[in-house]
Amino acid sequence: MSFKMFDVENIRSDFPILNKKVNGKKLVYFDNAATSQTPTQVIDVISNYYLNYNSNIHRGVHFLSQQATELYEGAREKLKNHFNAKLNSEIIFTSGTTHGINIVSSGYSEILSEKDELIVSELEHHSNIVPWQILCEKTGSKLRVLPMNDIGELELDKFDQLLNENTKLVFVNHVSNALGTINPISEIISKAHKYGAKVLIDGAQASAHFKIDLQNLDVDYYVTSAHKLCGPTGVGMLYGKKELLEMLPPYQGGGEMIDQVTFEKTTYADLPHKFEAGTPNIAGCIAFGAAIDYINSIGLDNINSYENHLLQYATEKLNSIENVKIYGESDNKTSVISFNVKGIHPYDIGSILDKMGIAVRTGQHCAQPIMDFFKITGTLRISFAFYNTEKEIDFLIDTLKKAIKILS
Ligand code: ALA
Repeated sequence: MSFKMFDVENIRSDFPILNKKVNGKKLVYFDNAATSQTPTQVIDVISNYYLNYNSNIHRGVHFLSQQATELYEGAREKLKNHFNAKLNSEIIFTSGTTHGINIVSSGYSEILSEKDELIVSELEHHSNIVPWQILCEKTGSKLRVLPMNDIGELELDKFDQLLNENTKLVFVNHVSNALGTINPISEIISKAHKYGAKVLIDGAQASAHFKIDLQNLDVDYYVTSAHKLCGPTGVGMLYGKKELLEMLPPYQGGGEMIDQVTFEKTTYADLPHKFEAGTPNIAGCIAFGAAIDYINSIGLDNINSYENHLLQYATEKLNSIENVKIYGESDNKTSVISFNVKGIHPYDIGSILDKMGIAVRTGQHCAQPIMDFFKITGTLRISFAFYNTEKEIDFLIDTLKKAIKILS
């Protein structure tokens, strides 16, 4: 398959870090599911902000504050358009996916009671499990688990059995960070809605790989992080349908989230400010918008087909190595491969790969229930972005074969 229309070498020149030497070897960065690299176009936006606009937003009559406010709200508008939300006020800037989930889960502690039930999928990252367990401890609500099968797909027929009129919330990731499975969230959302349950989707691993249309999905809450799609760390998005965000109490009290403050009573600001207490990561939020522009300049469809090509290419090569077992074999997955080599600890292989400049993640990937399902302690995980190449995969495969020889 040829990708002439996709000029990887040109794209790589946007990411100076990819020329870095690690342990004396050229960096091969295959840990994109943990965090993606940042192009100069986005880095420049951050430094330009501090060089030219640094000031606080929504607070000053002065020039810099107005400029910063415009850029910050402009970034919100970019997110609204990119993800196709209905209103700017439905987009809340957060510090990341985990923060977004905690805003929602903590808000429901004032809404749920003992008779209520919540459904979590077995494929979740800890950040989409633990906040809900804390919620259940506070409210007495019951957490039920939608199971997965041997190839790392959710068992949707079991979802029908779990849903009932007491189900209030369902939370599922769009894409599993540990296995790469793309979950059938449209189906999950429409089934949950038949029972009046609301659905939160963790999109941390999805937004860098394909287009997400929030209105078309009819999703209730959607969370993601900027650093997974070429933006900075410490910034994310919580989307919620207006009426559902309005229903939730504020997560934090402080400046900017208020309407009137007296010692007798405080009233809160309208959306989105109700959930944005304190001075936010202004440069980071503006850079989130720049990252969206960057991704769109390449095109998510182009990114998706190129990454799929890398996924097929690497999967075939890995499967041809004796004793390699891949976890997560759905036909519908992103460019994530979790695997083990029989008899060798993933950390040992990961360490040899690192010595050769290859960055991978080893361990549980913050998804212990998935590891428990497969009865393993962890995996090696390689995750590709659109700036990776076949040549890098060839180098990984050669190095892996050498590591297996050393460690066998
Ligand atoms: N959740 C990130 C990962 O999967 C950190 O690596």
